[in-house]
Amino acid sequence: MGLKAHTSDTRLVLGIESSCDETAVALVRGDGTIVAQAIASQEAEHAPYGGVVPEIAARAHAERLAPMIEKVMTEAGMALDDLDAIAATAGPGLIGGVMVGLVSAKALAMAADKPLLAVNHLEGHALSPRLADAGLAFPYLLLLVSGGHCQILSVEGVGQYRRLATTIDDALGEAFDKTAKILGLGYPGGPAVERLALEGDPKAVPLPRPLKGSPEPHFSFAGLKSAVLRAVESGAHAPADIAASFQQAAVECLIDRLERALDTAGPFPALVVAGGVAANRTVRSALEALAAKHAMRFTAPPLALCTDNAAMIAWAGLERLAQEGDSFIGDPLDFVARPRWPLDPAAEAVRGAGVKA
Ligand code: KG4
Ligand code: ZN
Repeated sequence: MGLKAHTSDTRLVLGIESSCDETAVALVRGDGTIVAQAIASQEAEHAPYGGVVPEIAARAHAERLAPMIEKVMTEAGMALDDLDAIAATAGPGLIGGVMVGLVSAKALAMAADKPLLAVNHLEGHALSPRLADAGLAFPYLLLLVSGGHCQILSVEGVGQYRRLATTIDDALGEAFDKTAKILGLGYPGGPAVERLALEGDPKAVPLPRPLKGSPEPHFSFAGLKSAVLRAVESGAHAPADIAASFQQAAVECLIDRLERALDTAGPFPALVVAGGVAANRTVRSALEALAAKHAMRFTAPPLALCTDNAAMIAWAGLERLAQEGDSFIGDPLDFVARPRWPLDPAAEAVRGAGVKA
C-alpha cells in the first residue's frame, strides 16, 4: 500500500483552500505535478489586530477567490472540462472562509458536472508529505504543528488516522504567535521569533517544558507562554535570548512527546512533519536527529507545502480518487462546512485542543 503516488496517474484536480488567512488555488495531477497555483496572504489585513479576524478573512476570501481560480486555469491553459474533480477545504477552520471556498467549489462542480471533493484541511496537511516525497509509504508517524493544531498522528492510509496526542491548551504555532506578540514582533509570529532566536542564547532564560516526561501523551504550551510573559516583564533578559530559549523549550517538548509516542505506538518506518511550524529550521533539525536516532526515514515537505496551500487540498482529493477508483461519485452538493472536524473521530475530546483563537 501507499506507493500509488507519482505514477502515470494523469487525473487533474482543482484545489481550493480558504480556512484561515490564505486564499489559495492549485491545479495538481495524480502524478504529483503542480500544474499551476496561486496564493494570496491576508497578513496585511490582520496585522493591525495581532491575529486573524474571522469576518475580515471571510470577506477577503470572497473578493479574491474567483479571480484567482480564473488566473490559475488560464495560466495552465485548462478549461473546467479538463478537470476530473474539484476539491475544497470543507473544515476545520474559520467557518466564514471555509464556506466561501466550499460554496465556490460546489458551484463549479455543478456547472462543469464534475465530482466535488469536500476535503478535511488536516488531511491535506497529513498527506502533503506524500506529494513532496514519492517514496513515502504508509504507515508514518506524523507531527502536525500549525497555528490551530498540534497533534501526533499515526497515518495508516488515506482516511485512516489514529491520533496519539494533541494539545490540552494552545497549539505550538499559537504559542509562537503569542510569544511574538509579547515580544512586540508583530504578526505572523513564527518566522519573526525564529529570526530573532538566531541572535540569542537558547540556554539564557530558564523556561518550563510543560508535560515533559509526563505519562500522559499530550502537549501543553500555555504555561510556556505565561513564563515568556513573566520573563519579558522582569526586564532581566534580552529579547533575543527569550526568543531562543522559548524555541528551545518548545522543541524539547516536541521531541519528548514524540519519544513517548514511539515508545507506546512505535516503531514507525518514517517520521513526517507538516503544518506551518514545520517551516522552523530548529524544529526540523531536531526532528531529523530524532528520526536518525530511531532509523526512520524523515520527510519534511518544502516550506510552501508546509504552510496553508491549495496543492495539498487538491492532492488529498487525488489520493481519495485513487483509493476509491471508478466507483467514486463525489461528495454531495449539500455537504455542510464543518468548523470542527477531527481526523480521528474515535479520539477522546481534549479540553481546548486545536481551537484557533
Ligand atoms: O499551517 P499554517 O499555515 O496555518 C494553520 O492551519 O494554522 O500554520 C501557521 C502557523 C502560525 O502560527 C505561524 O506562526 C507558524 O505556523 N509558523 C512558524 C514558522 N512559520 C510559520 N512557527 C515557527 N517558525 C516558523 N518559521
Ligand atoms: Zn493549516
